Formats: sequence, structure tokens, C-alpha cells
Amino acid sequence: MELILLGPPGAGKGTQSKLLETRYGVAQISTGDMLRAEVKAGSPIGLEAKSIMDAGKLVSDDILIRMIGERIHRPDCAKGFILDGFPRTVPQAEALDKLLHETAVDLDAVIELKVDEAVLVERISGRFTCAKCGTGYHDTFKRPQREGVCDVCGGTEFIRRPDDKAETVHARLEAYNAQTAPILPYYRAQGRLHVVDGMADMADVEAEIEAVLRKIGIPPAVS
Ligand code: AP5
Ligand code: MG
Repeated sequence: MELILLGPPGAGKGTQSKLLETRYGVAQISTGDMLRAEVKAGSPIGLEAKSIMDAGKLVSDDILIRMIGERIHRPDCAKGFILDGFPRTVPQAEALDKLLHETAVDLDAVIELKVDEAVLVERISGRFTCAKCGTGYHDTFKRPQREGVCDVCGGTEFIRRPDDKAETVHARLEAYNAQTAPILPYYRAQGRLHVVDGMADMADVEAEIEAVLRKIGIPPAVS
């Protein structure tokens, strides 16, 4: 299965693609996570990307296309992948088509998670993750079962993203509207775009995505 999850910052791309990764046995590829790993490692890409990400702008197409070109050929992508945060510009979408064509892989679907802007800001400003295993939480919508302890790994340290500050969130939304939203008509014209209500509860969003995938002939690998 080759799938793209599209949507503005805070739409639930990371949340849903992690759930799909488990259910369908395919790799989740988050370009945001990949870039944050480069920043943490202090690599040349990380050094270039840090100030751009902190300002809520988009890192250059060249860097992203190279990163994805290498990533989709790793062994964990043998059964397919879910792209979370890529493509984000029309040139990235065109480059992806070319990469998939060269690999003789067909994109199954592009799922747009639709969420109102006011809700996005609330979601992003309440978000935090376990420093040890990366499980995501939210101050209001998804607190750990035991206060201060990660449900998955028992870790007790949590982190917030530097680009989740209110002023940066607005810059990220602007970048989405100006540079990423124009790829929706690109995929609509290909007949691949499916719109899902991302305002619903997490479980309902997951069920709606699964319904789309069943409709196009892709059942879950794990029930
Ligand atoms: P990236 O990491 O991709 O961030 P983003 O697109 O801004 O999206 P987020 O990760 O903030 O949101 P999400 O949709 O994953 O939502 P989540 O599931 O966490 O990119 C970061 C930066 O990297 C970019 O700004 C750019 O600089 C750079 N970059 C990355 N890719 C690039 C590319 N291709 N080209 C150029 N630059 C690139 O959910 C958010 C919160 O809401 C969570 O707390 C969650 O628990 C909660 N939540 C989720 N779903 C629901 C629900 N249904 N109901 C209630 N709460 C929910
Ligand atoms: Mg994310």
C-alpha cells in the first residue's frame, strides 16, 4: 500500500499514520520527524533546516526530494509506506510521481484530513510527546493514563516542539495554505484524492480512513 496523508499542521497526520502503520504493516515516513532527527544529530541538513523549521517555513524541495528518494528504498518499505508531511509543494508532488514511476510503484490514494483552523491551533498548542519513545499526547485530548508516565514505555520525560509556539503555528498554517493546499487539485485531477473529516474523534477518523481503503480494495493486514 502506498498512501499519502495530507493536511495542515495539527490535522492528525502523525497520529493516524502511526495507527495505519500498525494496522497495515507498512512504514510511516514523516519528513518532519526525519528533519528533526537531522537537527538533533547536527548534520549539514539539520543545520540548514533548523532556522527554517523554527520560523514555520518549508525546507527546500531539493533536500526533501533527495531524502524521500533514498528513504522509500529502505527494506522497511518493501510492503509499502504512508507519507506523512510529503509532498508539500507541487514540485515535490511531481518529483514523487517520477520516483514512483521509476520504481514501478502505483500510489493507491491521497487522503486529506480536513480540520478548521481554530481547532488546529488548539491541538498544536496542547501537544507533547514522550522523550524516550516518541508517543504523542495532548493536554486535553489524550493525557497519559498515569499522570507524568508514558503509557507505552513508562518514560517520565516529555518534550514540546519548538515550532509549536502560537506565532510559529500561524506561519506554518500560512505556508500550508500558500504552498501545500495547491497540491490538492493536482491529486484530485488524478482521481486519487479522498477527503476525511479530521474533526471527528481519533477512532472515528481512523475508521473513516479504513473505510476509504476498503473501498479501493485494501483491507487491513492486522485485525
Ligand atoms: P511536520 O512535522 O510534518 O509538521 P506539520 O505538518 O506542521 O504537522 P504536525 O506534525 O504539527 O501535525 P500532524 O498533522 O502530524 O498532527 P498530530 O497527529 O501530531 O513538519 C514540521 C516542519 O518540518 C515544517 O514546518 C517544515 O519546516 C518541515 N518540513 C516537513 N516536511 C517538509 C516537506 N515535505 N517540505 C518542506 N519542509 C518540510 O496531531 C496534533 C495534535 O492533535 C496531537 O496532540 C494529537 O494528539 C491531537 N489530535 C490528533 N487527532 C485528533 C483528533 N481527531 N481529535 C483530537 N485531537 C487530535
Ligand atoms: Mg506530524
